Amino acid sequence: MASHEQLIGRQDVDDLEAILAVANTDVDEAIHTVADNSDAIFTWDYEKGARPALNKLYEKAKNSQWNGETDLPWDTEVDVEKLASEMGDNPVIQRFREAARVPGSPFEHFTEREWTNLVIEGQNWRLSQFMHGEQGALLCTAKIVESVPWIDAKYYAATQVMDEARHVEVFAKYLDTKLTGHYPINAHLKMLLDDIINDSRWDMTYLGMQVMVEGLALAAFGFMHMLTQDPLLKQLLRYVMSDEARHVAFGVLSLKEYYEGLSDAELRERQEFAFEAAVRMRDRFLQQEVWERMGIDPRPVVTSMLAIPPKENMFQQLLFSKIVPNCKKLGLLDASGGWLRRRFEDLGVIQFEDWVDTGEEYAELDEVTKDRLAGMSTAS
Ligand SMILES: [Fe+2]
Ligand SMILES: [Fe+2]
Repeated sequence: MASHEQLIGRQDVDDLEAILAVANTDVDEAIHTVADNSDAIFTWDYEKGARPALNKLYEKAKNSQWNGETDLPWDTEVDVEKLASEMGDNPVIQRFREAARVPGSPFEHFTEREWTNLVIEGQNWRLSQFMHGEQGALLCTAKIVESVPWIDAKYYAATQVMDEARHVEVFAKYLDTKLTGHYPINAHLKMLLDDIINDSRWDMTYLGMQVMVEGLALAAFGFMHMLTQDPLLKQLLRYVMSDEARHVAFGVLSLKEYYEGLSDAELRERQEFAFEAAVRMRDRFLQQEVWERMGIDPRPVVTSMLAIPPKENMFQQLLFSKIVPNCKKLGLLDASGGWLRRRFEDLGVIQFEDWVDTGEEYAELDEVTKDRLAGMSTAS
């Protein structure tokens, strides 16, 4: 069984120096190559619908396609400064403003201009990481088409490849045409995506991407959708979320069957992978690149972020609100003597275990179909 050191490269989850030492040193690289160790698998069993839940998802996906160029209001004027001042009142910024009252805080002498810049940079950074994560999803799902042994899953994954291409496209277009350039990929996110692609076991692609990365993305998109006042970004996010809910459901519905047949030792390896992914994603949200770009020493800021008791850090905890119930549904919380349950307790996120899992709720999040039905009823 692996130690914390082997799983995440440090014994203490909150080891500041170890977290900050993981930095992207290749910010100018144009391409990045990762070894993909899995086998490409043909199946000669073409029986469509042998897995009815996946078949249903595939049929739904075919009817829920949208066009990133024509279905979003790209002619919307985006006033970045105005939006940032409207968003400056959100809970995350409020917490930094409180920290500014402490003498010696890096924010102590922040002007209103700098607070606005922080919102602008934070938004730019988050959307850039979403874009990079979307490309990770594109590659992972193409890999699933090859590596999963079931025809219904290959069919569904093919629709997800199209979804992810569209997601990369719309985030890149928003960043390029409405904001001011990109941030390079965060090193913690990059490490996680590399690990997922590198793993030879087909279910690990699902667990890392569909359950962990996309589960967190679904919650994070929901926050940004709630906070932004930009109608273009709002619609972009709700359309992306419609697709993402299906993607997470794909992971849960596929792995549920597979994990029922695994031994405790095999499940323990999956638990460890889920824990590693959770820590990497927590680390990336410390947004060290934003502090560096703003000329702020990340040490005191990240230290204060790590010191927030989990119960008072609702925003960050809620990012795990999809992951925890989905892991529970897969039997990962309590396998191996409850190992992952205890890790999620340490991270302060176990309270979400009985929230609705995405295998159940994806249809409710399908805004694209709702819009289409509403459009049809207005037209008739
Ligand atoms: Fe996506
Ligand atoms: Fe996705």
